[in-house]
Amino acid sequence: MADKRVDLSWDEWDELNDPRPDQNEFDQVVENALSRRGFLSGLVAFGSGAAVMGTGALLSSTAEAATTSRFAFKPIEIATDATVHVPEGYTWDILTRWGDPLFSDAPEFSHETGGDIASDRIFGENTDGMELYEVGDKQLIAVNHEYVNPKINLPKNEDGVPTSAAEVRKLQNLQGVSVMEVEESEGGWKVVQDSAYNRRIHQNTPMRIAGPAAGHDLLKTDADPAGIEVLGTMNNCGSGKTPWGTYLTCEENFNGYFGSTDETAELPAAFSRYGIKAESRYSYEKFDPRYDLSKNPNEPNRFGYIVEIDPTDPESKPVKRTALGRFKHENAAVVIAKDGRIVVYLGDDERGEFLYRYVSNGVYQPGGDTENLLNEGTLYVAKFYDDGKGRWLPLTPETTGMDAVEICIHTRMAASAAGGTTMDRPEWVATNPIAVEAYCALTNNRNRGVKPNAGGDDTSVNAANPREANNYGQIVRWTPVEENHAADTFDWDLYVMAGNPNVHGDEYAGSANVHPGNMFNSPDGMAFDTAGLLWIQTDGNFKNEGDFEGQGNNQMLVGDPVTGEIVRFMTVPYGAEVTGICWSSDRRSLFVGVQHPAAPFPDGEGKLARSAVIVVKREDGGLLG
Ligand code: FEO
Ligand code: CA
Ligand code: CA
Repeated sequence: MADKRVDLSWDEWDELNDPRPDQNEFDQVVENALSRRGFLSGLVAFGSGAAVMGTGALLSSTAEAATTSRFAFKPIEIATDATVHVPEGYTWDILTRWGDPLFSDAPEFSHETGGDIASDRIFGENTDGMELYEVGDKQLIAVNHEYVNPKINLPKNEDGVPTSAAEVRKLQNLQGVSVMEVEESEGGWKVVQDSAYNRRIHQNTPMRIAGPAAGHDLLKTDADPAGIEVLGTMNNCGSGKTPWGTYLTCEENFNGYFGSTDETAELPAAFSRYGIKAESRYSYEKFDPRYDLSKNPNEPNRFGYIVEIDPTDPESKPVKRTALGRFKHENAAVVIAKDGRIVVYLGDDERGEFLYRYVSNGVYQPGGDTENLLNEGTLYVAKFYDDGKGRWLPLTPETTGMDAVEICIHTRMAASAAGGTTMDRPEWVATNPIAVEAYCALTNNRNRGVKPNAGGDDTSVNAANPREANNYGQIVRWTPVEENHAADTFDWDLYVMAGNPNVHGDEYAGSANVHPGNMFNSPDGMAFDTAGLLWIQTDGNFKNEGDFEGQGNNQMLVGDPVTGEIVRFMTVPYGAEVTGICWSSDRRSLFVGVQHPAAPFPDGEGKLARSAVIVVKREDGGLLG
């Protein structure tokens, strides 16, 4: 029987598994939402409305900003084609693609079989977050492989559904993380095959569990009765980099990997908040009992964490840091607070879920022991008030009614109990290196004002998430008081509301810094460069019609935090999202991820579409930020 699950995007799959609430509850939510829409009627009102009453409103208009532009390039037009575009004076090239050998004993990629069963020796699929590290004069990139497309990895199987343990293993091996040495020569950048640093970390790599939840009953399984070691990491989305040079990989949609071979098996109540159901997305449970909820109901409790990896030591064991909470982690933006404590900003990418912050108990000392900086600390959930003020609400036994370990494992429930603000799918957080401020991409949320989140929390429009059925997304930013990221209060405003001024004349047109020449939808990946410019990557609707007409393929833009100006730098092939960004150590090369192209990219017509890391340079050899 045809199995359509594998054709669905993660969003669509979640929607299928997350039906609407009953009519009474739904009616009430809509009623609440409608009663609050008054303050957002029309573009003019929007520009001065409650949503932006914080600091500096929505910045100056583009016309004003153009006279003081800090951008070194001429913005590009939208595209709807099958390739990559960058501005005049810039070039792009492929660094590596799904299936390219990291080691010379791996076979070359086959467009007939979609890679080989030896898939833990090759670059995995669907590149996502990445960071660059320097070891002496060598450069390493650690990069995530978010998920696999079973249809193109198992092209001989009906709908790509695995039919053996070996096929499951192939899919498992293609996810996780690659660490690879990269090198630039006259012929351009390439991966150094067989480098001693090259490494694949996948769904069967042993990892240590650390922090408050290590050894807890909810983490114990038959294979690991102590609850301290887990095999693998999965659905690795965004990334983070610690001041001590480790890589943070973020486990996002882990729920879809688990299923039950016994449909009558009773599942723990806590599963529903995380979308863990008897029907899986990948059918692993049929051939790998670890993923079978009827046999191993605690296994999902061992995923949904931040994992710390030392990319400079290929023998090192990755560590799951449970103190940073368990949810659908997007990325991990690490910053050192004024007082030396470590602050990590963390988004939970699900409609109506929360934005978090972790603050370490200890202080970072360069060269000192860092083991407990991500083990001992406090998690907070963000509360955005309508007056432009905000507060980090601590998740403690007193505020949540849960013990310290439960807070780490069932973090979503803790955040609901503490009363955080439900958000429009928090994706990446980025902190500005030249100003004490942080930005979070809220990609979109068609459920805003339509239905509550999976925990029943009200998701009526609020000031930071002000549009009902928000299909364009926005970027919220905050400035901690006293320039201290560890402080408990902040001021916030909206940097941009994405929208379409060609189609809409109301709040769906977007904020004043959005115009027909730069419009986009669904901001997702974000990173600041050393000049304090914000690079914004999109993962949205690329159909270029209806609400999205004139927005074209997904794109990467650059924003000036001071003027509000936003300009388009790159477009990617149709179907692809742009995700993952890092710079070479001399900042003259920019690495960017092109994930899940539908176009036959980059190998051309008749070939399989392959996710890829590309490298962008200036023709004059200049800096890219
Ligand atoms: Fe993997 Fe929320 O993006
Ligand atoms: Ca993302
Ligand atoms: Ca996304």
